[in-house]
Amino acid sequence: MTRNHSLLVTGGCRSGKSRYVLSRFHNFSGNKFLLATCEALDEEMAARIEKHRQERDDSWTTVEEPLDPARFFRQNPESTDLVVLDCLTLWLSNLLMHGMNETSILERADGLIAAIKSSNRTTAVVTNEVGSGIVPDNALSRAFRDLAGKVNQQFAAAFDEVVMMVSGIALPVKHPPVPFTGSLSLKNPNEFPEMEKKGVYDAIYYRRDMRHFLPDPVHPETLGRILDAAHHAGSVGFMQPWNFIVIDDPEIKQRVHENFKQANEQAAQKYSGEKKELYSSLKLQGILDAPLNICITCDSSRMGPNVLGRDTMPETDLFSTSCAVQNLWLSARAEGLAVGWVSILDVENLKTTLQIPENLHPVAYLCIGHCESFYREPMLQNKGWASRLPLKDLVFYNRWKGPPGDYRVALPRKPEESH
Ligand SMILES: Cc1cc2nc3c(=O)[nH]c(=O)nc-3n(C[C@H](O)[C@H](O)[C@H](O)COP(=O)(O)O)c2cc1C
Repeated sequence: MTRNHSLLVTGGCRSGKSRYVLSRFHNFSGNKFLLATCEALDEEMAARIEKHRQERDDSWTTVEEPLDPARFFRQNPESTDLVVLDCLTLWLSNLLMHGMNETSILERADGLIAAIKSSNRTTAVVTNEVGSGIVPDNALSRAFRDLAGKVNQQFAAAFDEVVMMVSGIALPVKHPPVPFTGSLSLKNPNEFPEMEKKGVYDAIYYRRDMRHFLPDPVHPETLGRILDAAHHAGSVGFMQPWNFIVIDDPEIKQRVHENFKQANEQAAQKYSGEKKELYSSLKLQGILDAPLNICITCDSSRMGPNVLGRDTMPETDLFSTSCAVQNLWLSARAEGLAVGWVSILDVENLKTTLQIPENLHPVAYLCIGHCESFYREPMLQNKGWASRLPLKDLVFYNRWKGPPGDYRVALPRKPEESH
């Protein structure tokens, strides 16, 4: 989170807004201020305030500002603190109850936005989406609803980032601008709309290699869609070297499983001591549990001896097949289907079992089916076998291990949840 960042968190009542803000700034290193706009005018409100207070740890200082939260920013203009204003709608209701009219309140909201934006600190404002329900039956409530909608729009337009909470899940509504100091325009008319873009990234970040499956069958239409997604992968010279062998015969699966068991025993011999013990404890396939297995093969002869782009790099037919596997894996994730890749197999034995011609290469043997839930992180990471390398150590500039020059990649800040 950069300094000067402004975040608006909106959503319905009990949608998880305050909890999201707390978790989002859990590791914030500076002073943390909670700018509370609520007044404990009755017992119910006092209990709510107390509940929120209990959710925050000692690192927070609470400042109560039911009417003029901008004062805090005016009085502390320059600081590296974090301020969370919770919440905007209560502030509006306080102003209404003090007899202010809509125009004056909208002006005050402008003033608060200006105070926040000119202050050098990270600020999160919590608000409510109050306009989605039925039309309130009295004029004051309708005025409040309309005012809240207008002020939310003011803040959303001015703030760097907007998140909408729905049933405890944070949906990005407005992405923070990518910090970039160069002269390139960041406006791209070809990009997907926000939610579609999010779907693509979700498929990428929430894809997992799965080894636990439910016996429920895979719907043939779903399988058709993910195979078609695989078939739309890029391939060298557009040679589309893949074939998909869909396996549901228990006898064939049994033979592949035997193949795995033998190969796995041999693989375990490569390790010793604790590492061997850990290896032997890992579940590395779901061949029999998954209702379907798919073997994806590469036919190097698909387009004859000369293939555009492959003549210079012969392995690119295998790379292309891998692209198809990845397409299948991601689309399966979007469909809620688990995929597990098994490479601990003797290739010749597998070819014999599946009657794959001599000149073809099995690239991937996949287990596919439904699962109870997806692992939250790579199983090998969870079991302490390996962990994700820092991306920044893997990016070079202009030559092997070259440092950045004028241009430096802005790597995304890690989302709080680890994938
Ligand atoms: C080419 C390839 C072969 C793999 N072979 C196996 C395997 O034999 N057994 C297994 O349990 N996982 C296998 N995996 C899955 C990896 O262990 C897994 O992708 C990695 O640990 C990262 O986890 P994630 O896919 O959940 O992000 C394979 C993955 C790839 C890409």
